[in-house]
Order: sequence, then structure tokens, then C-alpha cells
Amino acid sequence: MNLLITGGCGFIGSNFVRYWLESHPRDRIVVYDKLTYAGRRENLHDLWDSPRLSLVQADIADMDAARRACCENQIDLIVNFAAETHVDQSILGPLIFTDTNVRGTHVLLEVARELGIRMHHISTDEVYGHIPDGHQSVETDPLAPRSPYAASKAAADQLVQAYYITYSLPVTITRGANNVGPFQYPEKVVPLFATNAVLGEALPVYGDGLQMRDYAHVYDHCTGIETVLLRGEIGQVYNVGTGREMTNLEMVNIVLETLGQDRSLIQHVTDRPGHDRRYSMNVDKLRALSWEPKYDPWQAVTEATRWYAQNRAWWEPIRNGEFREYYDRQYAERLAGTRKA
Ligand code: NAD
Ligand code: TYD
Repeated sequence: MNLLITGGCGFIGSNFVRYWLESHPRDRIVVYDKLTYAGRRENLHDLWDSPRLSLVQADIADMDAARRACCENQIDLIVNFAAETHVDQSILGPLIFTDTNVRGTHVLLEVARELGIRMHHISTDEVYGHIPDGHQSVETDPLAPRSPYAASKAAADQLVQAYYITYSLPVTITRGANNVGPFQYPEKVVPLFATNAVLGEALPVYGDGLQMRDYAHVYDHCTGIETVLLRGEIGQVYNVGTGREMTNLEMVNIVLETLGQDRSLIQHVTDRPGHDRRYSMNVDKLRALSWEPKYDPWQAVTEATRWYAQNRAWWEPIRNGEFREYYDRQYAERLAGTRKA
């Protein structure tokens, strides 16, 4: 099979490419990636020599480029990881989220429709919005996104489902929980906190830190997507997570303990506007396809933290580069205005 993996140089996409090439030795992968700040060729540095892997640098919203990549490579399946992905970035500059996440997904659906290709779309638990205690989101729940990022992902999900209903396009969707693991850009909380802690810098916890997230290992997300690609029902949505949550303060404590660092690094700062208090998903539908996560959230955060401690060569150039400007914009005032715990 020939797969077009959009966003394959990003965090989850690159982990998925690595996983798929290893476990499906007859398949070929074309990574289709715009290489934004979050897309890094070096995430797959040891694999580019493989005759089974190639890169097209282009935008998913560019219909001609997407069509050409599919035709020239006889693509059988598009897996759409490409997106703008960070909630805080979506608060600072939201329009690119609509361009890529909504229009880009729509363009891929059009290309898939024209060429008769199956498309799998990668979505997120954030489309369900804040989940009150006592409930776990199921796939049929109404979408109630609350950030520009989540709203753009929800719009994309609805377009994907509309193409199934209207054109019978063979589509599937997975909604992932908060992923952690190797090669995650350090704007996201676990790599941010792990790398800050390694450097002895403050960990900026938004508000009281009692928000709840299902921190799932990216490996389990990859096997969940694989399960849906091989055994999922066309037209269906599947949640992928551990089904268990922890508070952000619990997550911070695991990061600090794993690194042998002191809790005095914790600094409570001004909260994110519209911050969703709790995400929680029921993953029984995926379990019914004989899938089980290998890591619980505690193991996932520990493993991920260890990777950042052992791979400074990957993240130091990022942190010393353009990331610095974003970090100052997002955190300088917040950190100056508060005291350490
Ligand atoms: P990421 O930000 O690490 O990577 C995104 C990738 O998409 C990068 O390689 C980037 O260059 C590429 N990209 C961005 N805009 C593009 C465009 N217009 N055209 C082509 N390529 C483009 O993201 P991630 O964390 O790996 O997330 C991958 C997918 O999984 C996204 O769809 C995201 O919404 C979803 N998701 C992420 C998480 C999470 O915890 N990170 C959880 C659930 C779902
Ligand atoms: P993040 O990794 O941005 O994922 P999402 O917002 O998509 O869940 O954040 C995870 C949690 O960590 C979320 O509750 C916000 C919180 N957080 C902080 O407390 N401080 C930070 O600096 C960041 C980036 C996030």
C-alpha cells in the first residue's frame, strides 16, 4: 500500500511514519509536509535513505500540489496529521488555524473524492470541549469546541463526516487525547516542563493546575490509528486515549520526580483564556477492535520526560532558535507577574 502522511515531520506524524515503516515492510510512505516551525525533517533523520520513504514539501491547502503528490505516487490512503496544533498559538494568531485545519482538510477531501482515495483524519478530544465530572466523551457526543484550535478541528471533523454522508467517500476519524513522547515540539506542556526542569527554569503552571488531561503515549496513539485503518468501520469515529486522567499538578510532579528536581520550580501563572478544565474520553469503541494502550498516563509522562532528559541534542537547537521569541511573548509577563510556589 502507498500512504500519503500529511504532517509526517511533526510530533505524532513522525512517530507514526517510524512505526508504520517498521510494522508494514511492504508499504511505501510519502510524507507531505509544509515544514512549519513544528515540522522537522530531522525527526526522521535515520529513515530518509530508505527507498520506501520520500518527502514532498507542500501545503495541504494547495490543491494542485496535493493532487500531484497523490497521482505521481499512486496513493491508496491519505492520513491527515497536518495541522496547526497549539491552543496558545491559536489564541495569539487564530487565522492560520482556519487556513490549515479547515481549508487544508477540505482540499484533501476534494482530492480524495476526485481520485477515489480513502482518507483517515486525525482529530482531538478538544472538539468535545470541557467535560464535567462524571462524564466521559463518547464518539456520538455533540461537539462543543471552546478555543480557536478546537473549533477549527471540529469544523474539519464535520467536513470529513459530510463527505462520507454526501459522497460516500471512505473516511474514518480518530480523536486523540493529549499525546506525549519523543519529538514533541516544546511549546506543549510536557516537553516544555521537562526541558525547563532540565535547565533549572521555572515551570509556568496555568491557574491552579487542577485541570485534568488524559496524557497518552504517542506509541498507543499510533497503534490506535493502525487498528482503525486495518479494522475500523468506514464512516466511523474512534476515540484514542487511556481513558484515565490526572491533574496538571500531578503531571508536573511526575516530571520533577523523574528528573530529581525540586518542586520549588513550580510557578503558578495567569491562566489561559477559555482554558478547558477537563478532558476525558471513553475508549471502549476502539477497545472493541482488540486494541489496548500499553502505557497508563503515569508511565507515559515518565517515559516522555526521560526522553527529553536523554535527547538534549534534539531540543536545544529548537529552544535556542525561533522558539525563544514565542516563549518570551507567551511567558515573560506571566512569569514576571507571579512568585514561585
Ligand atoms: P505538530 O504541530 O507537532 O505537527 C504538525 C505537522 O503538520 C508539522 O510537521 C507541520 O509542518 C505540518 N503542517 C502544518 N501546517 C501544514 C500545512 N498547511 N500543510 C502541510 N503540513 C502542515 O502536531 P502533532 O502534535 O503531531 O499533531 C498531529 C495531529 O494530531 C494534528 O492534526 C493534531 O490536531 C492532532 N492531535 C494532536 C494531539 C497532541 O497531543 N499533540 C492530540 C490529539 C490530536
Ligand atoms: P497543552 O500541552 O497546551 O495541551 P492542550 O491545551 O491541548 O490540552 O496543555 C496541556 C495542559 O497543560 C493544559 O491544561 C494547559 C496546561 N499548560 C500549563 O499549565 N502551562 C503551560 O505552559 C502550557 C503550555 C500548558
